[in-house]
This record gives sequence, structure tokens and C-alpha cells, in this order.
Amino acid sequence: MSPRVDAIRKAFPALRRQHNGHPVAYFDGPGGTQVPQIVVDRMGDYLLHHNANTHWVYPTSIETDDALLAARRAAALFLNCDPAEVAFGANMTTMTFHLARGIGRALDSGHNIVITELDHHANVAPWQAIARDRGIELRVARMIPHTGLLDIDHLASLIDGHTGLVAVGAASNALGTVNPVRTIADLAHQNGALVFVDAVHYAPHFLPDVRDLDCDFLACSAYKFYGPHVGILYGRRKTLSSVDIPKLEPAPDDVPERVETGTLNHEGIIGTHAAIDFLASIGAEAGQATSRASLEASFAFLHSEATALTGRLWKGLRELDSVSVFGPSPDLQRTPTVACTVHGLTSDEVCRQLADEGIFASNGDFYAQTVVERLGVEGLVRIGCACYTTGEEVDRVVDGVRRLANGRR
Ligand SMILES: Cc1ncc(COP(=O)(O)O)c(C=O)c1O
Repeated sequence: MSPRVDAIRKAFPALRRQHNGHPVAYFDGPGGTQVPQIVVDRMGDYLLHHNANTHWVYPTSIETDDALLAARRAAALFLNCDPAEVAFGANMTTMTFHLARGIGRALDSGHNIVITELDHHANVAPWQAIARDRGIELRVARMIPHTGLLDIDHLASLIDGHTGLVAVGAASNALGTVNPVRTIADLAHQNGALVFVDAVHYAPHFLPDVRDLDCDFLACSAYKFYGPHVGILYGRRKTLSSVDIPKLEPAPDDVPERVETGTLNHEGIIGTHAAIDFLASIGAEAGQATSRASLEASFAFLHSEATALTGRLWKGLRELDSVSVFGPSPDLQRTPTVACTVHGLTSDEVCRQLADEGIFASNGDFYAQTVVERLGVEGLVRIGCACYTTGEEVDRVVDGVRRLANGRR
């Protein structure tokens, strides 16, 4: 294990957990990562010493305003945008439903919306709902089951001058596929359509860059990148200012507050800031402040680790008889999330037996329901590496799957 990964692991109290006499190996990051001590400390400090509602004149309220602004600035560094373009909320799903209502008010039966088969249903259902409410045509871009890639030619053929919005995932939470978002955004913009990006599974593995992706909206969730349960929505300032989003009359109409309903999860937002600082600290010199450069250095390190782990996991699983492995091969741009099935066992049975050995992996469809349908499987075993995953843990999960597969032969 590299000294850097060793240092990262020490930050996570959850990694000290044992189950049935085995140290727990967490491969459930795509469902939600573990949380470093610093995140919990900063949340606790806020709640115990600074807790108040916003915009009043006494110290705890002023401290709350300052802390929320600092968190917004950190999230803006993380996404490469202006702090006024960052809204916080309950989670990606809730924020996307909310935004979709606003976007839908500007569309009608003369428009279409393009979504994809590869997406988590949080990037499907909100668009289905406005399509139904507003009589908008919904067009669905195909995935290619044997590669786990999006059929870009098919997607391109669906976009035309009547497309109001293209909603696409930056990365598949089921298969680890990374989509060419910039190419898709260019296609959409050439046709006058808006682009909404679900970066929930992308953000833990690739530093988002909304300017480079050239998207109009992008959503992610801090609990997938070592933070608490908070959703983050980027909106291009001009679009965010004008979208006809439901809001309370007395609430501010400025960006980003016009998108944030009610009182926010202050401690969660402060924990999100701490998670971004934690990520930045991986690549920074000791004591260096969080900056785009330190985040870039961290993600470069995380990416090289993830590439090595994915190769090891992929090779190990592919060598097993009675095991099918899905998604893009490791030589393609992908996240370190690998899905497989063990012939003759359900994904639930596999994950229960792995759990008995202290290996925590997730089963089912992970709300990427269409992906599982198109693969024609009952469910998937999803093995997701995170910043704290080691090569030894990857070998443990491969050995565990091997034993299950051998038992079935
Ligand atoms: C790719 C992807 N999109 C969206 C979501 C939904 O995110 P949230 O739980 O923040 O609503 C998830 C959650 O697993 C996800 O993996």
C-alpha cells in the first residue's frame, strides 16, 4: 500500500470496523462513501457552537452566513464555477425534480427532451414527469449492452431543433462508463437545447469542470465523495437567474438562493466544505489552502490509483469461470466501479456471502433500472473502489467471488 493511501485510510474511523473477525473492505462507495473524521468534527463544531438561522445580526447567525458562503466558495472551486452558480439542497434527486418543474414551464408539446438508457432514474423520472405534465416528447438514447457505452450516434440522431433539453449522466453508477459530455453538450447547444448533467457518480473520481464540460446544469451529491447527505446543483448564472422555478414569494430572487427552498441543512453544507478540503488535502502540501490546483493534484493521484485498482479487479474477475463482468474495459476512460454476476446465484446471494467475509458490496439495479433490463440480468454485484481502497482489498473481493463461483460449478 502506498504511504499516501495509508495516510488517507487513517482519516476514516469506519475502516477500523471488523465483521465476523474480518476487517471490513468497503466496496459500496457508489452507493455512499465512508466519511473522514474531519467532516464529522466540522459538522459537530457548527452544531455545538455556531448553530443559527441565516441573515440576522447576532454572532451565531453571522457565523452561519460566513460558513455557508465559505462552503459555496469551496463547492465553486470543486465545480470550477462562480459561487453564485452553486445551490445546495437535500440530494440530487430532489433538486433535479425541483429544477425540472422550472425548466418544464418553458417547454411545450412542440419540444422534445432527450434522456439515456444508461442513466440512474434520478436523471430519468424528473424529465418523464415534465414530459407528461407538459405534453413534451421524450426520446431515449440507447446504450450498447456488450460494451456498456452510450450509442452516441443514436443520441445525436435524436437531437434536433425542437430539443429543449438533453439530460445525460457523466458516469454510470452501475457500470462505471464515462460519457463524452462535452461532445454531447456541443451537439445540444448547436440545436439550441439546454444540457443537464448528472455527475453524482462522476464527481468522486473525476474533478468536475462545468466550464470545460460546457453544461448548463450539473448535479452531484456530497455523500458520494466523503461528505454528508447534501445535494449540489450548478446552474449557469444566466440560466439559473431566469428559470421559472417554484419559490416562496418573500424568499430572495437572487442566484443561487432562488433555487434553494426553505432552510438548508447547514451542518451538511459545512460538512460538504470539509469533504472538499479533505479531497484537496490529498494532493496538497501540508497546510496548503484548498485551491483548484490542489484539487487537480488530488484527483490526478486518485485517478492513477483508481486505474491500477480497476485493472486488477477487472483482470481478476474476468479470469473466473461462471462470472460475467459488465461495462467498459479498463483501457477506456471509466470509474473504478465494476459490475458482475455469478452464474447460478442472485446478486443478493453473492453480496450476502461476501458480507459474511467483511466485504461490503452492493447488489440489485441501484436505480439504474434500464441498464439492468438491457443487460438482461436479475441484478448486478457492484464493486466500487474509493480513495481508501487497497490492492489487497481488491484481491480479497476477487478471491471471495472466486470461491462463490467455484462452489456453483
Ligand atoms: C448516478 C447517480 N445519479 C443520481 C443519484 C441520486 O442521487 P441522490 O441520492 O443524491 O438523489 C445516484 C445515487 O445513487 C447516482 O448514483
